[in-house]
Amino acid sequence: MPELKKCWALFVQILLLSNLQLCAHGEPEVPCYFIFGDSLSDGGNNNGLVSLAKANYPPNGIDFPSGPTGRFCNGRTIVDVTADLLQLENYIPPFATASDQQILQGVNYASGSAGIRDETAVFLGERIVMNQQLQNFQTTVSQITGMQGNNETAAMNFLSKCLFTIGIGSNDIGVNYYGPLPLSSIEYTPDQFTALLIDQYSQQLRILYQYGARKLALFGVSQIGCTPALVAWLMLLVDDLNNDLTDAKFTYINIFEIQSSLDLAALGFRVTDDVCCGTSLTGCIPFTTPCENRSEYVYWDFAHPSEATNVIFAGRAYSAQTPSDAHPIDIHTLAQL
Ligand SMILES: *[C@@H]1O[C@H](CO)[C@@H](O)[C@H](O)[C@H]1NC(C)=O
Ligand SMILES: *[C@@H]1O[C@H](CO)[C@@H](O)[C@H](O)[C@H]1NC(C)=O
Repeated sequence: MPELKKCWALFVQILLLSNLQLCAHGEPEVPCYFIFGDSLSDGGNNNGLVSLAKANYPPNGIDFPSGPTGRFCNGRTIVDVTADLLQLENYIPPFATASDQQILQGVNYASGSAGIRDETAVFLGERIVMNQQLQNFQTTVSQITGMQGNNETAAMNFLSKCLFTIGIGSNDIGVNYYGPLPLSSIEYTPDQFTALLIDQYSQQLRILYQYGARKLALFGVSQIGCTPALVAWLMLLVDDLNNDLTDAKFTYINIFEIQSSLDLAALGFRVTDDVCCGTSLTGCIPFTTPCENRSEYVYWDFAHPSEATNVIFAGRAYSAQTPSDAHPIDIHTLAQL
């Protein structure tokens, strides 16, 4: 019955079209989004590495449309939710697999267990440390410059409109300083180590600026592996960079403060230290059955927030509810600049 088949095909097409329209995004708020950081932002860069910090196995991704991808989460990470809020059409592909076509929408360089310092979490195996992420970004910038007919001005103009988020530092503190092999804590006092980290981070952010980044949001570290001193230092760092590099805008997303202010019970979370997926050295235990309702847990595993938590973090980063959520501006305002 060819007619019926044709008719059916047409019907399916119409259904798909109307579906597409229903889900159609508005205009993206930025043309491109580049992501740097650790496992809170990783979208699969560690999948091909010899590392204990990997997440490309179930039950990670149990609530993600394409299943386990290397995200250390049941569903969307903070950068995925940010991409959704910015109305980007796709999640930003990892550097490890991004195609030439895709890089114009942005690239995700983040890598689980990475730190500001090169030696951080070395015992977990291969990882793409912040300095290497910057080198990988330089590769992308060269590619983009090539696509613009080797016109550097055009490439810089293009990059100046993109959003950059950087979420790194938790492993330097939680794994390097206070972790199982606390070498740094023998060498440095906490204040010395924090100053050292901030100094290095500041240099890395200036390199990102030199390569063309102009709209930068720093995700602060969460309550895990955090010292309040670091929060204060990071705010000063952002002020310093904004005073110095006046044609760029840096903002600090105070995840620590957002997390502290949450009324867990009112938001439907269980008020417990339990995590949804049992915990191994670096995350959720492979091939185990996680908790039934992931939305009830703040943490997916011992180190990584659940999607439900990421929705709140990214939501308040995008649209600040209090002045302390984002300093000096939220991501929505940054995107509009
Ligand atoms: C390079 O790009 C800029 C900005 O798009 C443009 O003004 C300039 O004319 C271009 N230069 C060349 C040599 O094409
Ligand atoms: C899962 O938990 C959320 C948050 O507490 C709640 O709103 C939802 O109804 C729960 N879903 C089920 C199926 O119990």
